[in-house]
Amino acid sequence: MLDQEKQISPAQWLKANYPECSPKVGIVLGSGLGDFADSIANPTTIPFQRIPSFPNPRVAGHSGNLVLGQLGSTQVAALQGRCHLYEGWSLEQSLAPLNALIELGVELVILSNAAGGINPRFQSGQVVAIDSHIDWLFQSLNPPNLHPLGASFLGRTHKTYDPAWLSRAQKAASELGYSLASGTYLATLGPNYETRAEYRAFARMGADMVGMSTVPEALLAMRLGVPVLAFSIVTNVANPDAPTTTQHTEVLEWSNKAKTILQGMIVSLIRKHF
Ligand code: HPA
Repeated sequence: MLDQEKQISPAQWLKANYPECSPKVGIVLGSGLGDFADSIANPTTIPFQRIPSFPNPRVAGHSGNLVLGQLGSTQVAALQGRCHLYEGWSLEQSLAPLNALIELGVELVILSNAAGGINPRFQSGQVVAIDSHIDWLFQSLNPPNLHPLGASFLGRTHKTYDPAWLSRAQKAASELGYSLASGTYLATLGPNYETRAEYRAFARMGADMVGMSTVPEALLAMRLGVPVLAFSIVTNVANPDAPTTTQHTEVLEWSNKAKTILQGMIVSLIRKHF
């Protein structure tokens, strides 16, 4: 990388190297959801490694590419894979890719993740919209140089998960014959899955899903005034009284099945609202 490249922000680098790039929607693809990017037309795939200041995911199921292209006639940018705090990244590093998409001007951020189901009514393979969260990461989202506008939005009292986009997603789901539940996502640092005691505790706290990501991204977008729509794919439902062991391969397998519905919803939302 040239010294000069280190000085500019990732968004400036992208603008300089891909002048046509002006995405309206930014999509973060979580564990096992990366091949959603296959549905993007005219794709330009840029490995995170090529982009100055981008981190590079170190976990199976997260390939680490930025895919620019179109869904219908709308320009989108998808982050194929994310960097989690448990991989050793700082909050600022882990948020750099999404921050770049916001700096490029996306008008909607769609987040996705694979999550453990805590609510016993959920089933493996179910897509659930996130309507609230419990931030169990204990990280203060206050990095000074994430985005030029960051500091001025600190006092905003927006709902983090945009209710209007949530109801549009529910409508899109029902048009596809799918009933989209919503729930509270609790973010832990990981990388360990929960103990039985933790599953019980999180259920009492009001969590419906548990995972290791998404909350900082949602907070960043909210702070910067960009509406957020977020989905969990429930890969394993916790039953602390008859416990089984959660395997990463199981998580990837279930997220595969739910992808189709998630993809259908996103494509229909973008087609209708952009
Ligand atoms: N816990 C935390 N994260 C997860 C889980 C889980 O059970 N399943 C998938 N991601």
